[in-house]
Amino acid sequence: MNKARSRTRGLAVSAGAFSKRVLAWYDRHGRKNLPWQTPRSAYRVWVSEVMLQQTQVTTVIPYFNRFVERFPDITKLAQAPLDEVMRYWAGLGYYARGRNLHRTAKIVQDTYDGEFPLTIEAVQALPGIGRSTAAAILAQAFGQRHAILDGNVKRLLSRYHAVAGWPGDAKVAAKLWALSEAHTPSRRLADYTQAVMDLGATVCGRRPDCDRCPLSRDCAARASGQVALYPQPRPPKMRPRRETRMLILQRADGSVLLERRPDKGIWGGLWCLPELPNRIDADRHCQQSMGLKVSQEQTLGTLRHGFTHFDLDIQPIRLRVQRPPRSRIEGDRIWYRHTADRKAHNELALPAPVQKILDGLMTQESVT
Ligand code: ADE
Repeated sequence: MNKARSRTRGLAVSAGAFSKRVLAWYDRHGRKNLPWQTPRSAYRVWVSEVMLQQTQVTTVIPYFNRFVERFPDITKLAQAPLDEVMRYWAGLGYYARGRNLHRTAKIVQDTYDGEFPLTIEAVQALPGIGRSTAAAILAQAFGQRHAILDGNVKRLLSRYHAVAGWPGDAKVAAKLWALSEAHTPSRRLADYTQAVMDLGATVCGRRPDCDRCPLSRDCAARASGQVALYPQPRPPKMRPRRETRMLILQRADGSVLLERRPDKGIWGGLWCLPELPNRIDADRHCQQSMGLKVSQEQTLGTLRHGFTHFDLDIQPIRLRVQRPPRSRIEGDRIWYRHTADRKAHNELALPAPVQKILDGLMTQESVT
C-alpha cells in the first residue's frame, strides 16, 4: 500500500482517486484563464492569493489587473509609496491586507534581494501570509507539494468526510489539515491547488450543486442526506449572565413605584422598577432607603432579558406598601398606574422587561 493511501485508510476513497477526480473535473470545467495563471509567477500568485483571502474571484480580477499593471513586480511594489498602493487597493476591503502586501514587498526586496522565498517557513513568516496562503503560493508558483486549507477547502472536506464540529476549532482544523494533506497529490500541484479551491468555490459553495460535483458519489455528507449540516457553524458564545431582583411596590390603588434611572448605564433615563441590592431583605431595604413599610412579599417567575453582551435574569418581588405617601411624584420617583392601553404606555419610557412585568401583573390582577 502506498504512503498516501495508508494515511487515508478509512476515507471514502483513496488519496489518489480524490485528486484524480478533482483534476479531471478541473481539466473539463475549471477556470484556466484567470489573470494570475498566465504567467504564473510567484509575485502574481502571491498578490492574487492575498486579494482572494476574503474576496471572490470575479471581484478580484479587475483589481488584480489594475494592480499588476501599475506594480508589475515586487521591486516596483516595494518602491511605491504606501498611499499609492492603498489607492489601488481601495474598494477591496480588509485594508490590512494591502498594508501587509506592501510591507512584505519591502521585506522580500531587502532580505531576499527581491526574489520570493522558496521555503514554506520563510513564506509563512511574511506579514499577512498564513499557512494555507503560503502553501497555495508555493504550490501554484513552484509546483511544491503542500496541503492547503482555505475556506473553500474546509467546506468541501467537512462535507466530503462529514467532519463534525466547527472548522475554526483547533481540533477540527487539525483533522481537516490531515485530510487535506492525505489528498494532496505528488504531481500537478499548481493545477490541483487551483482546482480544489475552485471546486469548493463554485460547486461545493454555500449552496452546493452536488449534481455537478465529481466527488458526490463518495461524499459522506451527501450519503447521509445531510449536506446542509456541514460545515458546522461556530457554536454560540456562552453569554455572561447577570442577576437582579426588582421590586414591585404596590399601593392599594394598584399603582406601582418606578424610579428614573441615571442617564448613564443600562436603560439610562428610563423609568424602572427599583432594584434590590444583594444581601439585603426587601422590607429592610424599603424601610432604609425609601422610608416605606411593606408586607405580603410574593416572589414572581424569573424573566430573562437579552442585552448585546449579556443576559440579565430578573427576579420580580411583589410587595404591598403600608401607608404610602400621598404624592404621586417625588423627584425621580413616581407612583405609576399601569394600563393595557398602548397609548398610555408612551406616557413613560419603560425598559421592555419592566413593561412585560407590569403587563403580567395586570393579567394576574384581572384573573384574581
Ligand atoms: N480562494 C483563494 N484562492 C483562490 C484561488 N486561487 N482560486 C479560487 N478561489 C480562491
